[in-house]
Amino acid sequence: MSKEDADYIRNQVMEHNSWFNDCIPMIASENLMSPLAKEMLISDFADRYAEGLIGKRYYQGNIYVDKVEQRAVDLAKKIFECDFADVRPISGTVANMAVLFAYAQPGDTITTCALDQGAHISTCEFGAFGQRGVKSVNYPWKLDNMNLDVDGTAKLLREVKPKVAQFGLSVFLFPPPLKELEDTFNEVGCLVWEDCAHVLGLIAGGQFQKPFEDGVDIVSASTHKTFPGPNHGIVLGNGLSEENTKKIQHAIFPGVTSSHHLHAMAALAVTLAEMDVFGKDYAAQACKNARALGQALYERGVPVLCENLGFTRSHAIALDVTEFGKGKACAKLLEDANIICNKNMLPSDTSSVNPSGLRLGTQEMTRLGMKENEMDEVADFIARVVVKKEDPAKVKKEVTEFKHGFDTIQYCFNAGEPAYEYRKLVP
Ligand SMILES: Cc1ncc(COP(=O)(O)O)c(C=O)c1O
Repeated sequence: MSKEDADYIRNQVMEHNSWFNDCIPMIASENLMSPLAKEMLISDFADRYAEGLIGKRYYQGNIYVDKVEQRAVDLAKKIFECDFADVRPISGTVANMAVLFAYAQPGDTITTCALDQGAHISTCEFGAFGQRGVKSVNYPWKLDNMNLDVDGTAKLLREVKPKVAQFGLSVFLFPPPLKELEDTFNEVGCLVWEDCAHVLGLIAGGQFQKPFEDGVDIVSASTHKTFPGPNHGIVLGNGLSEENTKKIQHAIFPGVTSSHHLHAMAALAVTLAEMDVFGKDYAAQACKNARALGQALYERGVPVLCENLGFTRSHAIALDVTEFGKGKACAKLLEDANIICNKNMLPSDTSSVNPSGLRLGTQEMTRLGMKENEMDEVADFIARVVVKKEDPAKVKKEVTEFKHGFDTIQYCFNAGEPAYEYRKLVP
């Protein structure tokens, strides 16, 4: 029976691979790894441990692991223009937990964005923040520009005087005005932490924001959203004191990781090397595509948020689909047409289960070589399903045909190799 079980599981994965070859991928938190990066996932690194710091491991057998990790750290510091990088967190949430362990005690208050402003659940009372015993107080928000109210935020920071001020979103349309808050941060004396999970690849490519120029002290992130690496995490810092550097290293291991998934770390190293070369073009195109998609949807009668600001400065756009049946129903109809996206809360929504919005990201389509013209075609497919209520099965046929024209990954070494096949790991 067990072989049957294994065959069943493998077949489901193959079915998934095949289905996704037919789908337009628009989840703003996902991406495609390059063939070279993906190869690392089936290397012997996948079977090993390397607890501790580079050169000071608790295990033997780490000669090459140390070299790879050192190169990853060096590349990360170069690309993100900072003086500290740790590539051991195994996800964005784990990176967030490490920052919490390092710099917040149970009972502390941290200022953050709210869930309906686009924050990630890890920062909420019922997520990692709450479970660490940390209280969150939310910044005031401006609906017209989907961003922090600068004066209100400065006032809140002066009142609350948090040890840590946290920023960063999962619906991250515009850079937060951190530079404008820098004097307040200095006055309050707080550590400035930004969760850049969604926009890490854009930052790597010189788009969106330069967190450390904006006065951020520490960045946590996933490495598989706009940054097209493996499911993994990273912590970056600049100007941290020796004490704060030791605190975060200690929080990462032994605080929140033991094995740091060496195969993923190696895949991250390869992706950093690729982003050093191709990041600029990729990130610029992803942002151009998002604005083009916003415009094309808007012209087809879909309410896209922040039309007055060109919809977005990132890879993501947010749609208010209340009049077309709300987010959940629309996301399902789109899935039936092979367009994969997710329902999302918008400001003033109280339910994350039945919210009024859809979130769309262009980063994965960009990796597959799509440009502004293709965004127009994609918007047309979406509007036919959501606005005109055409039969999704009919649209699906056209979506599948369209997608087959975009089946290889760009902006990487070995561009042009199939997106969903492993190469053989032969020396
Ligand atoms: C802003 C933000 N932070 C953290 C995370 C969690 O990342 P991970 O899935 O790598 O744990 C997400 C996930 O989407 C996110 O949007």
